[in-house]
Amino acid sequence: MGRSNDLAIVKASNGLEAQEVLKENSDIKIILSDYSMPKANGGQLYKFNTSETNLPFILMTAGSLDDYEEFNTFYKDNKLNAFLEKPADDEEIFQCINNVLDKQVSSESNERPSKKADKKSEYKKVKPQFLMRFAQQEFNLYLEIGDGKFVQVATATNKDMKSVIKHYEPKKVDYFFLEKDDYNIFLQKTKDLLESPVKEEQQNIQEVTFAALDLAFTVAQEQLDALKVSKMHQEFVNRSMERVLTSIKENNDLFKILKNYLTQDDYLVEHSILNIYFTSYLLNKLNWSNDQTVKQMMYACFYHDLEIRDQRLGKIRSLSELTDANEIEIVKVHSKKAAERMEALKGINHDAYKIILDHHELPDGSGFPQGLQSSNTPPMSCVFILSHDIVDFLIENNFQTQYLASKFQEMEATWNQGNYKRIFSCAREILLD
Ligand SMILES: [Fe+2]
Ligand SMILES: [Fe+2]
Repeated sequence: MGRSNDLAIVKASNGLEAQEVLKENSDIKIILSDYSMPKANGGQLYKFNTSETNLPFILMTAGSLDDYEEFNTFYKDNKLNAFLEKPADDEEIFQCINNVLDKQVSSESNERPSKKADKKSEYKKVKPQFLMRFAQQEFNLYLEIGDGKFVQVATATNKDMKSVIKHYEPKKVDYFFLEKDDYNIFLQKTKDLLESPVKEEQQNIQEVTFAALDLAFTVAQEQLDALKVSKMHQEFVNRSMERVLTSIKENNDLFKILKNYLTQDDYLVEHSILNIYFTSYLLNKLNWSNDQTVKQMMYACFYHDLEIRDQRLGKIRSLSELTDANEIEIVKVHSKKAAERMEALKGINHDAYKIILDHHELPDGSGFPQGLQSSNTPPMSCVFILSHDIVDFLIENNFQTQYLASKFQEMEATWNQGNYKRIFSCAREILLD
């Protein structure tokens, strides 16, 4: 009868006693309950469970689930809940328990599901190996159990994070989740390692850099959804990035700039990664993608703002937004400076150079530094400029896509022309249809 044989059973003779047992034993994994019980019935015990512990609940009773109002949302409340019709023999009971255990990796955890609102945006995913390698402190750790629901599997105060991660190793968990604030601490500490003067860390600098890059690439799903980036395209980006990273690993100058890039402010890192996804998506849709084109575009996405450290300056669209002469100068020359720095490097071709140089040009000629018109802007530059504009718009609007339709309406007059025309329609098609 499998592993049910190994389970310890705690019995309670009525519904109230069961509640006491649950309060006292935080390591209970499953509740098996009848409906008709003295003092508190199965419905009352179930209510107690959903508000306090939300453990998988197996209801074993005669009749059907529909007979009991308290169980209206039974399968929604916890996907592991199960119903067993009486009479059931031992074999059936153990089979049912085994099913619940097998179905959910998190049911083996001693921790209770989080009482926080289960919202995806409140958690950030991290690969287990990064937590093992880089976490310098304990965090609350979560697993996603589907449908945007999370279960807490380790608690910072218990200091058990790494042992929990080890425990899940055989289950091949792709990602654990941290609370957003903890994630930011974790990310910052990993970035600090990149700037760390400590010698032994310097030796691992490649490893740390690529781990930090991987971390930066764990883009939140809602951001990719807002850009309509499909799973298939995510895989395309992963494959293309592998080629780009192989080249960066072999090229010390590109590597140094990448390391530098990863220590920039959050917006600067985030917006370039989202541009990697969206520019390559546009290139695919436009049938302009070959390995070399995509690779040069990716270089441009990473490196276009490499002369900017402060995200406030990275967000400037027009020089008139600035008053400080120093800042105006930094922004005015940053595209040219970056393009020239990149031009000198092996592996960078004229496309990437031009994209970086042109990245603040605008279709109506009001951009800088050259004031290019839409008919004089190379199509690859147009792809980048348009993608950059849309990504910024979404970042500003917290990835709420309902404003995109009016955004495209506003853009129509200036963007639907010259070398931008085809790219503009393609972006509209992707994002609005
Ligand atoms: Fe820029
Ligand atoms: Fe930028």
